[in-house]
Amino acid sequence: MNRNISLYDWMGGAETLRLIVESFYPKVQANPLLGPLFPADIEPVMEKQYMFLTQFFGGPSLYSDAYGHPMMRARHLPFPVTPERADAWLGCMREALQEIGIEGELQQAIIVRLTGPAHHFVNTPEEET
Ligand code: HEM
Repeated sequence: MNRNISLYDWMGGAETLRLIVESFYPKVQANPLLGPLFPADIEPVMEKQYMFLTQFFGGPSLYSDAYGHPMMRARHLPFPVTPERADAWLGCMREALQEIGIEGELQQAIIVRLTGPAHHFVNTPEEET
């Protein structure tokens, strides 16, 4: 693994972040566990995610500059984030990375970096089946 540059630079910066977000949200919308939580007009969510992930991976602080402290767990509290949904979210992200040709070590590093927050945002126990 290249430890001298940020994940942002390693993945290819702004251009790659756009591709990730554009590939990721159609998968989220199509996912039965995730889709219903999101608005039909997904464009504003995509833009915020682009800004957030940019800074999260070590690029410019686009999200905080526009919206202040991310408080990302708090921003997810209105939505029932279950462990199943966290795994589904990470699954969509892995598929998106694969689709745009981010594989191997870099894919793994990105998923590992997102796994902590995804599980941290869980605020609702697994639904009874
Ligand atoms: C764990 C499973 C997750 C679920 C079910 C989930 C779901 C959601 C939902 C429903 C929204 C609101 C959409 C709207 O505006 O109506 C949202 C917003 C957002 N999520 Fe997630 N999310 C998850 C994980 C993550 C992770 C891991 C990150 C980044 C590390 C993330 C970053 C964001 C951002 C940046 C926003 C926009 C916040 C804003 O409104 O400013 N989410 N998410």
